[in-house]
Amino acid sequence: MINFPKNFIWGTATAAYQIEGAWDSDGKGESIWDRFCRQAGAIERNETGQVACDFYSRFPDDIQLMKSLGIPHYRFSVSWPRIFPAGTGEPDIKGLDFYDRMVDTLMAAGITPWLTLYHWDLPAVLEDRGGWPNREIGFWFRDYAYTMAKKLGDRVKHWMTINEPWVISTHGYWSGEHAPGVRCRKKAFLAAYHLMLAHGLAFDAIKSVVPTAKAGITNASQYYFCLNRHPAFEEWRRYADAENNGIFLEPVLKGTYPEIVLRHLGADAPDVREDDLQQMCRHDFMGVQYYFDNIVEMSDNGKALVNHHRYPFFHYTEMGWPVTPSGLCEYLVTFSREYSPREIVVTENGSAWADFLAPNGKIYDVERQDYLIKHVQQVFEAVKKGAPVSGYFAWSFMDNFEWTRGYRPRFGLVYVDYPSQKRYVKESGHLYAKMIRHNGVDPAWIDRSQSERKS
Ligand code: GAL
Repeated sequence: MINFPKNFIWGTATAAYQIEGAWDSDGKGESIWDRFCRQAGAIERNETGQVACDFYSRFPDDIQLMKSLGIPHYRFSVSWPRIFPAGTGEPDIKGLDFYDRMVDTLMAAGITPWLTLYHWDLPAVLEDRGGWPNREIGFWFRDYAYTMAKKLGDRVKHWMTINEPWVISTHGYWSGEHAPGVRCRKKAFLAAYHLMLAHGLAFDAIKSVVPTAKAGITNASQYYFCLNRHPAFEEWRRYADAENNGIFLEPVLKGTYPEIVLRHLGADAPDVREDDLQQMCRHDFMGVQYYFDNIVEMSDNGKALVNHHRYPFFHYTEMGWPVTPSGLCEYLVTFSREYSPREIVVTENGSAWADFLAPNGKIYDVERQDYLIKHVQQVFEAVKKGAPVSGYFAWSFMDNFEWTRGYRPRFGLVYVDYPSQKRYVKESGHLYAKMIRHNGVDPAWIDRSQSERKS
């Protein structure tokens, strides 16, 4: 049995577009994901987030369920197009009212709200005005942050500006596999730069309204390592780390931008300004989101290849991601050493498996329990090694719309039967509740005896 420090923060996380549904209710504007999902072939099985988990209407029951499991902290995101259907101008009263009621319901249940301002659902009208590659977005985002802080800052004390800027810029503007589906390297690095600027501006806006608030940003954190210690490989590892982690971490934590990336990008590099870097350099805590780590290898043509599918001996989740728990501790420790963040919260970690709802209404998700325990153990190891980690949020509270993969991958601690919208707590959900009650974990808590029921 391991025990976490007193006051360790335990929570679960979700995001607006993945759970709310009600995509055009009460005057909500169109988001880039509403638009993207309508393109044939963009999402597996052409699924959309139009209904999702219908959290928009069912939130009182879902919050009750959270309370019954004893989950003390809940991380959710606000849908920007619900608040500003026209992108800028006057906020929408009904949109504000929804989050007002939701936060009140959380408070009444004794659950602490953790609010993310941007989890990928940009108002489509703002994409029409240039989206993240347009520098003006920093100021649109600042006004949105200010509006939310004014409305909810009396109750919400934990704020996250942007969720995973790496995914937004690389998937949204470079490979085009995510909304808005743009394929342009130059725009991707501009977007990445403006995301950081938006973070810094929003940080100040939040603090101007709620000086006692704690604010941060969450990053998709991948620990890159080489199998081969040849200097050329090590050079590529350093580059992959700078391009995927450094351009988001350096501005926020050091007020610098990695030189190696500027050199490599040449004409595609953003115009890095000293005053911008100073504005970006803000954090009270850093959100680390970890799913797996990456190996950097050299391909035959001499180019770097970051390919986690090369792990020959690993167990893979339903996403095709390897289960690599030790990378979490390594990342937390290395990140702390290199960047000295004030405080770290693991704001996402979790796994998708082919869950099966047994006739008795149970879900014996042994793999998820195993993943959960192993990763929480690694968080504990990192704390022991001195990393300033104060909390852990499991992704996700319930199954939801997994972006381009649609509804098939199930990440939840709670199973959602989409046709009926009924919720069933998985065994991993009960395990997590027990971990929270004990403020720690014992690997012997996994009940493996039922695993054969799956087949
Ligand atoms: C994260 C993202 C979440 C969720 C998760 C699992 O990158 O923030 O929204 O989709 O991955 O894939």
